[in-house]
Amino acid sequence: MLDATEDFTKRLRSAFGCFASGVTVVTLRDTAGTPTGITVNSFSSLSLDPPLLLFSVGSQQVSCRWFEAGAPFTVNVLAADQEKLAWQFAKPLKDKFEGVGWREGVNGAPVIEGTLASFQCRKWSIMEGGDHKIVVGEIVDFGATDGDALTFFRGSMQQLPHSSAA
Ligand SMILES: Cc1cc2nc3c(=O)[nH]c(=O)nc-3n(C[C@H](O)[C@H](O)[C@H](O)COP(=O)(O)O)c2cc1C
Repeated sequence: MLDATEDFTKRLRSAFGCFASGVTVVTLRDTAGTPTGITVNSFSSLSLDPPLLLFSVGSQQVSCRWFEAGAPFTVNVLAADQEKLAWQFAKPLKDKFEGVGWREGVNGAPVIEGTLASFQCRKWSIMEGGDHKIVVGEIVDFGATDGDALTFFRGSMQQLPHSSAA
């Protein structure tokens, strides 16, 4: 049986899952220079001038230390056909890039191929956010293309077609 705190946390996690979001993979290099990354849906645009974005990373995540150390990173917004990749970067794999096409961006972080958009960043600031750190990135370069989106809602992924009527 769950105690009161566990029940609260379980219900809160489930309630947070009611918010439908896109799916990103934030890529960077570890201290040895090896490409790595983490699936993130806490991404948000933040500011146009200066150009800023944000996301949160769990303090216990392996990659958290590299964000804190100031590694440049890229937020890759996944396309509808990239669900496999989203789950791959959400696992504690030694080589997260196995079978993934990518190129090096201007900031040195990997840019994943076939995404809807990518935002290459340098660290702007990192703030405390409970059991997460809020990472704010300054966008140094970006790209975007047309296509259908990958979404995350109540623990599962769906495809959202881009309406050409818009
Ligand atoms: C759809 C989805 C969204 C996620 N969003 C976040 C997030 O915003 N922040 C976070 O810290 N972890 C998030 N995770 C969990 C991480 O991707 C996962 O724990 C990953 O293995 C962490 O990698 P690391 O241990 O190499 O740092 C998400 C997972 C999924 C499947």
